Amino acid sequence: MSNKPIGIFDSGIGGTSIFKEINSLMPNENIIYLADSKNAPYGSKSKEDIIQFSIKNTELLLSKGCKLIVVACNTATTNAISYLRTTYKVPFIGIEPAIKPAALNTKNKVVGILATKGTLSSQLFHKTTDLYTKGILVVEQVGEGLVPLIESGDLDSKELEALLKIYLEPMITANIDYLVLGCTHYPYLIPMLSRLLPNDVKIIDSGLAVAKQTKAILSTHQLFNTNSSKGNIKLFTNGNIEVLNAVLDNQFETSFLDF
Ligand code: DGL
Repeated sequence: MSNKPIGIFDSGIGGTSIFKEINSLMPNENIIYLADSKNAPYGSKSKEDIIQFSIKNTELLLSKGCKLIVVACNTATTNAISYLRTTYKVPFIGIEPAIKPAALNTKNKVVGILATKGTLSSQLFHKTTDLYTKGILVVEQVGEGLVPLIESGDLDSKELEALLKIYLEPMITANIDYLVLGCTHYPYLIPMLSRLLPNDVKIIDSGLAVAKQTKAILSTHQLFNTNSSKGNIKLFTNGNIEVLNAVLDNQFETSFLDF
């Protein structure tokens, strides 16, 4: 069992930001990644649709023998992970916006969160936020239109910059000192965000925390790969393979698969 792969899925290339953290923390683990770019963005779809996409991705990963599944998508986690956990036997790791560390560390008592509509409107997001943000102003912003632009592969486009300027403006006016990235696509915007935000605003995402949690759960279930050589990595996309290769710096084996 332990030599079987870790499965990871996202609505597209965004979850590769999580894949990279997992691969660098546990380089000997075999990994299969699914980029469901054909159905991106999930963030503007209904909860029912997001659950259906998550089922499709999970069943494909299980058919490839995955021992554990990382839902590398805030939108799919906040809308579908409880369904997945009650339906399938393998352990699931999800990702949620890192509101807690931002709320614990903010000096200005104002934090910004940029995420999809699906995440910001979910019950799970509100439960976590209410728990940790007493006395803190949370400036929420839906990143409408960002995911399709990121999926198109130009991470430095004028369109992206124009949208981000609009989305950051109320946060800057409210004097945030933390910006939480609540979508796994957004870490690819960090160079642009750093240019647009005041220098003292810290940007946080949950990538490393998810990789550490994955390691902890593998340990609890005694699922570590016993083979110490470099893991076998395969990434599949039902969208544009060149865009996937570009965000991976052409470092990994990728294939087109119509799923
Ligand atoms: N990358 C995903 C997330 O973390 C989904 C974005 C989308 O497809 O809208 O929310």
